[in-house]
Amino acid sequence: MICDNLSIKEGRLNFAGCDTLDLAKEYGTPLYAMDENKVRSNCRAYTNALSKNFGDKYLALYASKALCIKEIYRIIQDENMGIDVVSSGEIYTAVAAGFDMSKAVFHGNNKTPYDIDFAIQNKVGFIVCDNADELPLIENAAKKAGVKQNILIRVTPGIDPHTHDKINTGCVDSKFGVSVYGGAAFEVTEKALTCENVALKGFQFHVGSQLFDPTPFLQAIDVMTDFMVLIKDELGFDCEILDIGGGIGVRYVEAEPQPDIEAFIDSIAKELIGCCDRKSLSLPFVCMEPGRSIVANAGITLYTVGSVKEIPDVKNYVAIDGGMADNPRYTLYNAPYTVINAAKADKSNDYTCTVVGRCCESGDVIQRDVKMPKPVPGDILAVLTTGAYNYSMASNYNALLKPPIIMINDGKAHISVRRETFEDLTACQK
Ligand SMILES: Cc1ncc(COP(=O)(O)O)c(C=O)c1O
Repeated sequence: MICDNLSIKEGRLNFAGCDTLDLAKEYGTPLYAMDENKVRSNCRAYTNALSKNFGDKYLALYASKALCIKEIYRIIQDENMGIDVVSSGEIYTAVAAGFDMSKAVFHGNNKTPYDIDFAIQNKVGFIVCDNADELPLIENAAKKAGVKQNILIRVTPGIDPHTHDKINTGCVDSKFGVSVYGGAAFEVTEKALTCENVALKGFQFHVGSQLFDPTPFLQAIDVMTDFMVLIKDELGFDCEILDIGGGIGVRYVEAEPQPDIEAFIDSIAKELIGCCDRKSLSLPFVCMEPGRSIVANAGITLYTVGSVKEIPDVKNYVAIDGGMADNPRYTLYNAPYTVINAAKADKSNDYTCTVVGRCCESGDVIQRDVKMPKPVPGDILAVLTTGAYNYSMASNYNALLKPPIIMINDGKAHISVRRETFEDLTACQK
């Protein structure tokens, strides 16, 4: 099994101590199921490794775009982590969950004036200034509110992480941040230091997502510490905080490795401490922003098979009662997933099929060329590792209702987000 919260008992798939067929029966399908203990152990993998390397000079920030619901914010707060938010909606949800917003950093490449006012009103700890046009917006909003707003500047270090194009963010050619190359990062830093209502605290970068090798982080740290030397020498500014983003990968299929978060952080720390020593910089306070690696393997999605269609010499289609509306990641970027026939989990995977959803789109595919015991209508399929970027990317396409999320704690489940109703669908309509 690709994660230790999955097992097979009497031929049936178990998840987080629960029988998946019983869960499907009790809560219906499609159903997102989350394993609270796995979320917590993933958080601790970060906080333990960061404190081992940096003492108390660190903060792990959960990138809440991966899954933004009140219960996750409460768990994250309980695990002594901060959050990365990217919209007024994420700020609103975190505040509604009672999150201490002084431990929040606010990202986004095109924050509106409303967003910036909203962040300041809600006392967000740090706004990450993405570009030169945003700086005066933050300065004016802070002046209007009579505060001095802490900011970081998002810098693109120009590293190619060789991940999927759509989750590659640290290259020179990126919509995010200001580049070290060509001087844009220097110029925004220089301007920020002249702002009266903005307190520049440091820099942030994010090289990309679904990374299995720390090398892009190490290269980015080398570039960033060179940049910090330049800023110190030319502008007399000592970077207090360096936020190195998220991006550690997760295992979606057997062929992928299981990244070792502690080993990843150990090598990042060694590089950062070494660079700071060699370049005579004081070691900054370090932030990291993991999203996927906190929640992905803490989630699965359960579906019911509706039809099995065999086109001789072409393909076998297995249609489920969800699809791209609750998990658009294969449609967006061919994301790999493991699919298991939950009632036949110990049978041989001798049937090849394409698992498709119920939307009116030929591209509504969950996974191609899946190998599983032959399903029949009524079987429950489990798609694994769906805790990140599934519910948060879900839509109501075809006026489908978003599935509920159940949270499982020590083998007991409760509803964390209820299933949508038809009334929810039309609630905003006249
Ligand atoms: C700025 C920033 N931080 C953190 C993350 C989280 O990345 P991941 O979920 O891969 O850990 C992202 C993802 O897009 C991001 O853009």
